[in-house]
Amino acid sequence: MNRSAFLKRLLLLGISGTSASSLLASSEKTKENKSVEKVEEIGPFAFLTKPYLQFPLPDAMTVMWITTRNCYSWVEFGENNVCSQRVTNAINGLNQAYNRVHKIRLNELKPGTQYAYKVYSKEITQFHAYDVSYGETLESPVYHFTTPSTDADEVSLLILNDIHDRPESIPYLLGLNKNEPYDFVCLNGDMVNHLDSESQLITSVIQPCTELFASEKPFIYARGNHDTRGSFARHLYEYIDTGENPYCSFSIGPAFFIVPDIGEDKADNDKEYFGLASFDAYREKQTIWLEQQLKSKAARKAKFRIVLIHIPPYHSDDFYGTVQCRKLFVPLFNKYKIDIVITAHTHEYGIFDPSTEHHFPMIIGGGPKNGTRTLIKLHVTQKNMDVTLINDSGEIFSKHI
Ligand SMILES: [Fe+2]
Repeated sequence: MNRSAFLKRLLLLGISGTSASSLLASSEKTKENKSVEKVEEIGPFAFLTKPYLQFPLPDAMTVMWITTRNCYSWVEFGENNVCSQRVTNAINGLNQAYNRVHKIRLNELKPGTQYAYKVYSKEITQFHAYDVSYGETLESPVYHFTTPSTDADEVSLLILNDIHDRPESIPYLLGLNKNEPYDFVCLNGDMVNHLDSESQLITSVIQPCTELFASEKPFIYARGNHDTRGSFARHLYEYIDTGENPYCSFSIGPAFFIVPDIGEDKADNDKEYFGLASFDAYREKQTIWLEQQLKSKAARKAKFRIVLIHIPPYHSDDFYGTVQCRKLFVPLFNKYKIDIVITAHTHEYGIFDPSTEHHFPMIIGGGPKNGTRTLIKLHVTQKNMDVTLINDSGEIFSKHI
């Protein structure tokens, strides 16, 4: 990104011109040393992102945000538009502090309930064993979210994929939804070409999402193969929340969602990975997890079982990752009667009926280039499920299940 575009983005975040220039200088300085992309502090004390919501459950929601400097952070939240409760992230008795990336899980929430919340960050200017000094406290505006209802009659989600570092596509594609209601967004992988820095993750993914929805509607990130590449890729899960593992499952109303993490599309020993990939063992481990999820009471009693995964097991190439997905995951998808698999990766959108090989319909989202991009909408009720795929010319393809 050029200098003026970066400055413009910081100004959009509400960071002043002087502060933005300092941040830019710091960012450029960081680029000089590629091995130190995760800088400790990057300019005057400010919010570097608005808050964004992650991993929605009927009784929990994660609030995340990033600041320029190390601080101590908390969320104040409550019902009826009153932020009466305060929660911080305490790990093993210590409140998380002296950090810039803030991840605070709000637990014991009421299902189907609207909450108001604000985030706070108090700068820590000095942190010694017996001498901690605080600076200014930042306070966000009030935002709202609604927890999913356990007995909801319906759930709706929007799915974007293969944006490949074209953040301008995010508002364009979400605009195709025309303000129809939805509960959450799934980013179905390859949001970047490769991940080299925090600033890239902010400008390509987090900021476009917070500008449009993410402070009040959560997103789930299903990692794609390109998201695993680059010097900063190992930090991705510090900036998103999928619960205990990078792969997750959760129930909302009539739907049980399963979000595996398929990993790379080539063998671990491929020369592209320089000996730094171990996805075979990772995928094998996930099959155990996957079967546990599919055997669970939540999955069995759900009206529809829905998989969100980046690489399609069929109607794709025959690269290693595709074949692994076919070999390891599809037998379980068939055995446990998955109702639909929504994928990405090929850059050629399509809707595919069940076959003798895959007993479930498959949807593949489009690619990053104009003319190939898509928004996928999924609306699930207790009786049926409607998938709508809209291309960037506004053409609509749909499937009723
Ligand atoms: Fe991909």
